[in-house]
Formats: sequence, C-alpha cells, structure tokens
Amino acid sequence: MSNEHKGLQSVIWASEQLDLLDQRLLPEQVVYLPLVSVEDVWEAIRHLKVRGAPAIGIAAAYGVVLGSRHVEGDAAQWLDAVNEAAARLATSRPTAVNLFWALDRMKARAAQFAADNLSLAGCKQALLDEAIAIQSEDEETCRLIGEHALDLFQDGMGVLTHCNAGGLATAKYGTALAPFYLAQERGIALRVFADETRPVLQGARLTAFELQQAGVDVTLICDNMAGAVMNKGWVNAVIVGTDRVAANGDVANKIGTYSVAVLAKAHNIPFYVACPMSTIDLNTPDGAQIPIEERDAEEITEGFGKRTAPAGVKVYNPAFDITPHEYVTAIITEKGVIYPPFNVNLKKLFDL
Ligand code: MRU
Repeated sequence: MSNEHKGLQSVIWASEQLDLLDQRLLPEQVVYLPLVSVEDVWEAIRHLKVRGAPAIGIAAAYGVVLGSRHVEGDAAQWLDAVNEAAARLATSRPTAVNLFWALDRMKARAAQFAADNLSLAGCKQALLDEAIAIQSEDEETCRLIGEHALDLFQDGMGVLTHCNAGGLATAKYGTALAPFYLAQERGIALRVFADETRPVLQGARLTAFELQQAGVDVTLICDNMAGAVMNKGWVNAVIVGTDRVAANGDVANKIGTYSVAVLAKAHNIPFYVACPMSTIDLNTPDGAQIPIEERDAEEITEGFGKRTAPAGVKVYNPAFDITPHEYVTAIITEKGVIYPPFNVNLKKLFDL
C-alpha cells in the first residue's frame, strides 16, 4: 500500500458548486458546505470556514467562476461579472496576499479569453480550468516546499509550529506542515510541537487534528508554553507558514508568530518560514505596510460559546503580527531555500 499522504481536502469543485470543508467545525465534525454564489464564498472566507492563505486564494478563484458562470449575453458582460465578483471577494479578508494574487490571475486570464474572442461557453470553461489549475499547481508547489524544508531537518528532530499551515490551508500537504508529511511517507521520525494558537485555535483544532490523522508524532501545547519547551531542549527548529512576505523579508503570520520568533532567537533555534511564491509581495516594501486584519472581540471574550472575560471589557484582537526579517533564518519556497539578505535574494527568486 502506498504511504502517500492523503488527508481532508478543504476545497472541492463539484461541477455545479464548490464543496467547502467547514473548518470552524473541526475537529468535531467533518461537514462540506455547498457554495453556489460569490456571497457564499465571501462569507466562507470572512468567517474562517476556509482559511489559510493558499486555500483562501483557491476558494476565491472558484468564487469568481461561481459569480460569472450564469451570465447569458456576450463576453463583455461576462467579463464585467468576473471583475465584479473579484472586487467583492477582495474585501473578504485583507492580509493574505494569495487572495489578491489569485483574483488578479483570474481577472487577467478572463480578459485574455474575452480578447481572444472565445465563445461565451469557451470563456466560462477556460476560466474554470484556470481555477482548477491554481488548485492543482498549489499541490505540486506544496510538495516541493516540503522537499526543500525536509532537507533542513534530520531524523529525531523536534520541530515547533504555530497556527495551521497544513493540508487544510492549501490544496494538499500544506507549507509548514509539508515536510512532516513527506517525512512520514519516508519513515523519517520528526516530533512536532503544535502551538494551540489563541484565540481561534487553528493549532489545536486543525494542526493537531490533521497531523494526528496522518500518524505524525504531534504534541499539543498552549501558546505560552513554547518558551518552556524550547528551554528544555526539545525544539531543534521552528517552521511556520505566512500570509504575506514583504520585499525586505518581513513576514505576516498568525498572531503569536512574532513571539515564537523572538523565543527561537533567544534559544538559538532556527526559525523557518515556508510559503509559495504567490505569498511573496514585492510591491509591499516592509512589514509595516502589510494590512493587519482586526477581528471581533468575541473571539477572545466568548470564543466557542463560553464567556471567559467580563462583558464590555476593552479588547485588542489582531489576527496577524509581523515578524521582522532579522528573526527569519530562511524562507522556503517551491524554488528552494532563501537566506538573507532577503531584500536582494527574494527579488532574484522571481528571475529564476
Ligand atoms: O486566520 P487564518 O487561519 O487564515 O491564518 C492562517 C495563517 O496564519 C497561516 O499560517 C498562513 O495563512 C499560511 S497557510 C499555508
């Protein structure tokens, strides 16, 4: 029997609709929601039914298809619907650049198809094929990221991760979790420490779930235990995903990532960031320019239906933070492992 990693697929195109795994319900329930409109997809992204930078981009690409496939008339009207759908989806969440990357790609391809005088049916099919390509390319991209990341790890190492940058956040394998799946396929033993990731618990609900399902050795810890676990000598490396890498190598990722990076530096532990090229945003010069989403106070005061803070208390709830590039040992993409100076080496990567 093949050892190849399987796992739940977060986004499935089902000929007339998008079947989307509701990640809010994991790990208790595995429920696929049928999405049929742009609004369905917008709502799913905004409310974290689908989350993780690459998966958001994939869902949004299908959202553009859903928003334009019912247009009858001519290619110009269809193109208007494509652009309208993309504009709406672009307002769903601000930080993950993969969302805008995927929408830009869909708009550009649609404009091309219309300019090529494809029939309306031809335009619609070609745009669906583009969304399918975005999804299948992501699978191969993640596998390559995993290969490059695995070169940095040795059998028996302990590796800490934060949030969920796994198969659920991508087409397959994930970015930061990809090396664990490849290690598992090859019989290389890695011990993973998963931060639970307050306040929405992507680490506990999603990372611990998907790694456990795959048989990877995973230990769940609260976010505030990372320093103690490092101090015990159990962590040889940290690997996280990212929602956007600025041109200078500053990295936006789930809130708490910066604290982990500071702890890693204090313990002389390498801090790796894994992402597809589509997460690198050379148009954003540094981390200060990355828009950081702020989410509802209820995520902190009454997450999962239980009030844990006094009503009316002031709350600050940024969904992401910026890790300055000085804390990043290397950035791992499908094209290989990039070391500092990131302002030079990230640019070079786009010329390869
Ligand atoms: O708010 P989320 O769950 O969408 O945040 C996700 C993360 O921060 C991930 O680490 C990042 O998107 C990379 S996913 C491969």
